[in-house]
Amino acid sequence: MRKKIVAGNWKMNKTFAEGVELAREVNEYVRYKEGSEGVSIILGTPFIHLAKVAHNITEPSIAVSAQNCATEKAGAYTGEISADMVASTGAKYVILGHSERRSYYGETSEILVKKVAQALDSKLDIIFCVGEVLEEREGNKHFDVVKKQLTDGLFNLAAEQFAHIVIAYEPVWAIGTGKTATPDQAQEMHAFIRSVIAEKYGQAVADETSILYGGSCNAKNADEIFSKPDVDGGLIGGASLKAADFFEIIKSRARH
Ligand code: PGA
Repeated sequence: MRKKIVAGNWKMNKTFAEGVELAREVNEYVRYKEGSEGVSIILGTPFIHLAKVAHNITEPSIAVSAQNCATEKAGAYTGEISADMVASTGAKYVILGHSERRSYYGETSEILVKKVAQALDSKLDIIFCVGEVLEEREGNKHFDVVKKQLTDGLFNLAAEQFAHIVIAYEPVWAIGTGKTATPDQAQEMHAFIRSVIAEKYGQAVADETSILYGGSCNAKNADEIFSKPDVDGGLIGGASLKAADFFEIIKSRARH
């Protein structure tokens, strides 16, 4: 059975001390409060928080994720952080292909193919983000765009490798805008993504792949979104920065 996942993407927020505190609070909520059973929780922290947060987490349902990694294994790449370094902190995941990385840092599918290979080589699982911009949706190109992102970024992988991929569907027009996709829009795209994976890797692999929704998902709308059969969880930006809000979203995921 595919996993139910709620992942926080902290982006470039929280100083070291604030991030360690936020992770401590999430750990406490999961430990002492009811309602998170059966949900895999992921904290996507900035690089410098990874080691400390991974060390401090005591709850087995919580894993730690980086938000990026380098295209190369090691060497003279000033300022870069390799997948091996990420894995050596105790982190288990890396988020790759986020729309902010694609648009602000020029991450093409060619670059992402290299990052995916590095992450898998370092035994990291990957949250791979896809999603269309508003003009693409309005032009009814959103299915083609998402299919191309999947095909160009991931479909060079063997089926055993694809088992380490979680997909996050994040319509760019919904990220940080307060404008969520409707539950039906999310379901429609998630079912489409699953069908594209089934075409390539077969139905069994598609059925095992967790597909998360991201884009202004919060404690108020999570229930509705998570009630859809192909929505396996969420990738949460803004609402992951307060432990109480994030825990409400985790509870929503557990309820459905
Ligand atoms: P948001 O971000 O929840 O703040 O819209 C989601 C994301 O970018 O992963």
